Amino acid sequence: MVARFPLLLLLLVFSAQLLITSAAAAAASPHGLTQVDVAKRLKEELWERNPGHEMLKSWNGGDPCSPSAWEGFSCRLLDGNQVVAKLNFSSKELQGPIPAVIGNLTELTEIDLQGNNFTGSIPESFSALTHLLKLSVKCNPLLSNQLPDGLSTNLDFR
Ligand SMILES: *[C@@H]1O[C@H](CO)[C@@H](O)[C@H](O)[C@H]1NC(C)=O
Ligand SMILES: *[C@@H]1O[C@H](CO)[C@@H](O)[C@H](O)[C@H]1NC(C)=O
Ligand SMILES: *[C@@H]1O[C@H](CO)[C@@H](O)[C@H](O)[C@H]1NC(C)=O
Repeated sequence: MVARFPLLLLLLVFSAQLLITSAAAAAASPHGLTQVDVAKRLKEELWERNPGHEMLKSWNGGDPCSPSAWEGFSCRLLDGNQVVAKLNFSSKELQGPIPAVIGNLTELTEIDLQGNNFTGSIPESFSALTHLLKLSVKCNPLLSNQLPDGLSTNLDFR
């Protein structure tokens, strides 16, 4: 009985510390996903409908901006970090839905997806891209060109 109390105290201290640690990790990005997480999911989602695709195969290493930008990615420096600023997957013969997780790359200013075989419609998540100036989806015959509500109004959409 006597020995149990310090153990309980130790457990309490330990779990409080875990809580603090996970809160700090979540604060690293506003929605809890780092750029590395987003890039990994983007690759997985595209790979599902485009297995063995050369560009996707070349996307290796955790960070799409370093040591050098992945094919189709352009990055810029923001507060000392390289962030994804542009995606250009034009004419890459990509199929399937446009991955909604692109909407978590919040610093994007340009997205060029023209000349592919994307299906479905432009994801709702794109309305979170408040810095987006240019979105090109032309020449995707199966894609609905309906824009999600709330997409940036000064957007150059083609
Ligand atoms: C994307 O790349 C293609 C081919 O390299 C180029 O013609 C096009 O202008 C690029 N798109 C943008 C938005 O820079
Ligand atoms: C991505 O961003 C959206 C907001 O656009 C957010 O709701 C979502 O939780 C984020 N995370 C994932 C895993 O999509
Ligand atoms: C485009 O996608 C559709 C549906 O998945 C498929 O039937 C068609 O063959 C694809 N076309 C090209 C050029 O890949």
